[in-house]
Amino acid sequence: MVKRKNPWTDHYTRRAQEEGFPARSVFKLREVQEKYRLISPGDRVLDLGCAPGAWSKYALKMVGPRGLVVGVDLAEVKISAPNFVFLQADVFEISPEELRRWAPEGFQVVLSDLAPKTTGDRTGDHFRSLHLARRALELARHLLSPGGNFMVKVFEGEKLPVFRKEVEALFSRVKPFRPRSTRKASREIFLLAFGKRAGTSEKGERSSL
Ligand SMILES: C[S@@+](CC[C@H](N)C(=O)[O-])C[C@H]1O[C@@H](n2cnc3c(N)ncnc32)[C@H](O)[C@@H]1O
Repeated sequence: MVKRKNPWTDHYTRRAQEEGFPARSVFKLREVQEKYRLISPGDRVLDLGCAPGAWSKYALKMVGPRGLVVGVDLAEVKISAPNFVFLQADVFEISPEELRRWAPEGFQVVLSDLAPKTTGDRTGDHFRSLHLARRALELARHLLSPGGNFMVKVFEGEKLPVFRKEVEALFSRVKPFRPRSTRKASREIFLLAFGKRAGTSEKGERSSL
């Protein structure tokens, strides 16, 4: 039987499969890593919305055997590595204390590729993604060590500048980034935040939304 090609299988998807990654999203993190060195060997990395596991697999390579990757997702992830911990959970239900058990001294990097199921309603998708991004920021506030880095996905929309300000309050430098491998039609953008400021672990101002 001739296998029909999936029309959505693009260059990045094929390359990801060839290199042993379960999703094309790996190229987004790789581009950031090659440009900004977000992750260092030995780091403890928290990967929020980690399924099917491409970022976690890549982060494991970057941290090496002395590092740790803790992944959280509603969906199951199958990666077997001694320094990978997978927690099947809703990010709104898992507490910072539960996550801290895996890294009592804090994480050096928090990644969030959390995404809602898109509906085509741009405003609704923007607000749903912002809700997830704010939760990621909240967890980063509690769990990142001073000097730590944060990468978070948001779908663009009117409140992005407000969210950017919230991120800037916690980090020394914040940079919006749109990877080359992001699909042209996608509204996703990443905020890269470097150097968590000391003394920002307590809950600060309430969100302005
Ligand atoms: C774009 S995918 C992540 C891809 C991943 N970075 C990778 O490289 O394999 C977004 C993920 O966010 C997860 N997600 C969405 N809402 C969530 C929630 N409330 N709690 C945990 N995970 C959630 C979804 O299940 C989905 O797996």
